Amino acid sequence: MVKRKTCIFISGQGSNLKNLIFRSRDKNFPITISLVISNNKNALGIEYAKKYNIPYTYINTSCKNYENKILLNLKKYKISFICLAGFMKIISSTLINNYQGKIINIHPSLLPKFKGLNTFSRMLKNKEKNAGCTVHYVNKKLDSGNTIVQKKFTINRKDNEKILKKKTQKLEYLAFPEAIIKIFRNN
Ligand code: GAR
Repeated sequence: MVKRKTCIFISGQGSNLKNLIFRSRDKNFPITISLVISNNKNALGIEYAKKYNIPYTYINTSCKNYENKILLNLKKYKISFICLAGFMKIISSTLINNYQGKIINIHPSLLPKFKGLNTFSRMLKNKEKNAGCTVHYVNKKLDSGNTIVQKKFTINRKDNEKILKKKTQKLEYLAFPEAIIKIFRNN
């Protein structure tokens, strides 16, 4: 099996990155992680890249030509697939045009509900019955591309934001690899 050279974009903790690193060690898993890009110099997730000898780079997304820097890095490592794993910056159209249908994102809500930030506080405020996560293709509209995998759970009366995040992330560790397998199953 030819594994797709993949770049994971992160901004923070990197627990989804860690999960994907472990999953991608399986010879039957369709991707290999060839690069990690972080837009946060202090992202904890960078430590996983270091620990598992994966090339990584910090990109300052406030810089004018940051998109070119990203594209140059993606070219250098022959990246053909991109996973946004807690990347807290809206992806530019330049990148989307260059990687049409090749960028996926994980979002901590049952899209199309609760696009954007602060999903858990808004869910609680809205007295939602269910929460969950969605893996979807990235297009030019925020959190609006086609869904690949969605997983949900019932919100418990006692759940607060912290608990919702924990329960959601537990499902994310299943949903992200599942979505990647689904995408490449017939390719
Ligand atoms: C994940 O829970 C992901 O759903 C969320 O950030 C977290 C990153 O965690 N993404 C978004 O909110 C995107 N809008 P991690 O860094 O531990 O993988």
